[in-house]
Amino acid sequence: MRTDRWWVQPLVTVLVLVAFIVYATIRAFQNAHYFAEPYISPFYSPCLTTACEGDTFPELFTGPTWISPALYILVFPLGIRLTCYYYRKAYYRSFWLSPPACAVAEPHRRYTGETRFPLVGQNVHRYFLYAALVINVILLYDAVLAFRDETGEWGHMGLGTLVLLVNAVLLALYSLSCHSCRHIVGGRLNHFSRHPLRYRFWTAVSRLNARHMQYAWASLFSVAFADFYVFLLATGTITDLRFF
Ligand code: FES
Repeated sequence: MRTDRWWVQPLVTVLVLVAFIVYATIRAFQNAHYFAEPYISPFYSPCLTTACEGDTFPELFTGPTWISPALYILVFPLGIRLTCYYYRKAYYRSFWLSPPACAVAEPHRRYTGETRFPLVGQNVHRYFLYAALVINVILLYDAVLAFRDETGEWGHMGLGTLVLLVNAVLLALYSLSCHSCRHIVGGRLNHFSRHPLRYRFWTAVSRLNARHMQYAWASLFSVAFADFYVFLLATGTITDLRFF
């Protein structure tokens, strides 16, 4: 009986997420144009095989060259977003209409929550968080390496450096504001007074947690944009704007 445009939010969510999934899938399988000295696309970092373009991370093994290096690592960023408490709310509502909006009837007759297969698997979220935190450190490392120029000399900064840096910070804020992160630092305690350090961490993470949705969207856009920027440089479509 709602007469307002309650369908706009789920519709926009579907459009943005489908656009991101299509773009990310094309780029992950493309297996090219992900490195433009000194920048590496976040979709391909850490690049673990000997087939990698560039050398921002130690090569750990020799993989078949026809397998894109992105496929070895994208399972972790994909996993954290797929099992994220915020994204679950977003895609349960927008893709499964469960329910599509407050006070709007859903098409399903039965509700089983997340207690059965496959949704009970959402409980692995915290493990994806651990992996994401490691990748956050590596992406920050990539952003630091982007302060070198093409010859390896330090003291360079281009628009690409800024793009990688902003993206790495937003992704780190997304991970640190995670609900599981809040539980890890402050959960299972009866008395905060006996754990002043954990109380401090919990207070800081709780502040970030209040903006988790914003970090989720901002980091989704920033990671796609950072990849696209490196793609444009790697294909020679644009040249990097150099600050110093
Ligand atoms: Fe969203 Fe953990 S709740 S990343």
